[in-house]
Amino acid sequence: MSKIGIDIEKAKQILQTDGLVAIPTETVYGLAANALHKDAVLKIFEAKNRPHFDPLIIHTNSIEKIKCWVDDFPQWAQQLAADFWPGPLTLLLPKKNTIPDLVTSGLPQVAVRIPNHNLTLQLLESLDFPLAAPSANPFGYVSPTTAAHVATQLQNKVDYILNGGICDVGIESTIVGFENNCVTVYRLGGLAIEDIEQIIGKVNVQVNQSSNPTAPGMLKSHYAPTKSLFIGDVDDFIKNNSSKKIGIISFYKDYNVEKNQSRILSPTKDLKEAAHNLFSAIRELDASDVDVIIAEKFPDNFLGRAINDRLQRASAK
Ligand code: TXA
Ligand code: MG
Repeated sequence: MSKIGIDIEKAKQILQTDGLVAIPTETVYGLAANALHKDAVLKIFEAKNRPHFDPLIIHTNSIEKIKCWVDDFPQWAQQLAADFWPGPLTLLLPKKNTIPDLVTSGLPQVAVRIPNHNLTLQLLESLDFPLAAPSANPFGYVSPTTAAHVATQLQNKVDYILNGGICDVGIESTIVGFENNCVTVYRLGGLAIEDIEQIIGKVNVQVNQSSNPTAPGMLKSHYAPTKSLFIGDVDDFIKNNSSKKIGIISFYKDYNVEKNQSRILSPTKDLKEAAHNLFSAIRELDASDVDVIIAEKFPDNFLGRAINDRLQRASAK
């Protein structure tokens, strides 16, 4: 019996009996279970080796359903939802008691999103409960953007992997909440801040804090490959590390690689394409025979900000 496939009915049956299914989304693959059943949610934490203080995002297919699980859906959230769902946006909203405290690590708000992936939307539509789903990687490692990435690391820990191909966006959702009278971004992600500000005006950005009590999961060292990753001037790095075999991650520049290996994320200088390719490039270089990885700093706007954020976390040890 194959563990990877496109059988939505099978995925549904597993989830209805509290099993674990890896689901494709437009951002990254998620490791999903029934968010309303504590025992099912516990299996997620176990499979990922994830600490219980790191809360989970719940996924569903409609705003009507979300309203059954949250106490309030304020105006700012409705505006963002209307413009960006389904899509790479997660909203922090006050939770109802039906959402177990385990899902939110005891926090009063629950993170919710409607993902934009055809297979997963069909699955979610057939379910009367939301799916709690963190990224489908062992805790602390780079998020998976293909079914094969999931299989490599979690094959024996999931009951089924729904294969939805390569994730379109390739980087996790942008997490948005409300604090001190201001819409606040807690995690940079696949939806650019510039796009959010077009709809609701200036937002507050509060990321990169390892001890952020609102979002305890945003640890500094995260998304980390096994090999050391540095950010900086690639030519200098090659010069100063001539004895090493180096993995190079660049935006569009084609470096003279010789014995080294390079991954150009977007020859056409498109930040969306670069984000789409980022995690695969890190995984490939991590699995290759290079000794160390050097990445360029990306432009600090649009998805370049989220790319820089992920590279920084990948370089923090
Ligand atoms: O794109 C995504 O968001 C992917 C796909 C699968 O949807 N999911 C994802 O989940 O990246 P995960 O578990 O890897 O990251 C979720 C993060 C947590 O680490 C935490 O920082 C934040 O979301 N979070 C979740 N619930 C929260 C809450 N109630 N309050 C504050 N932050 C929360
Ligand atoms: Mg994650």
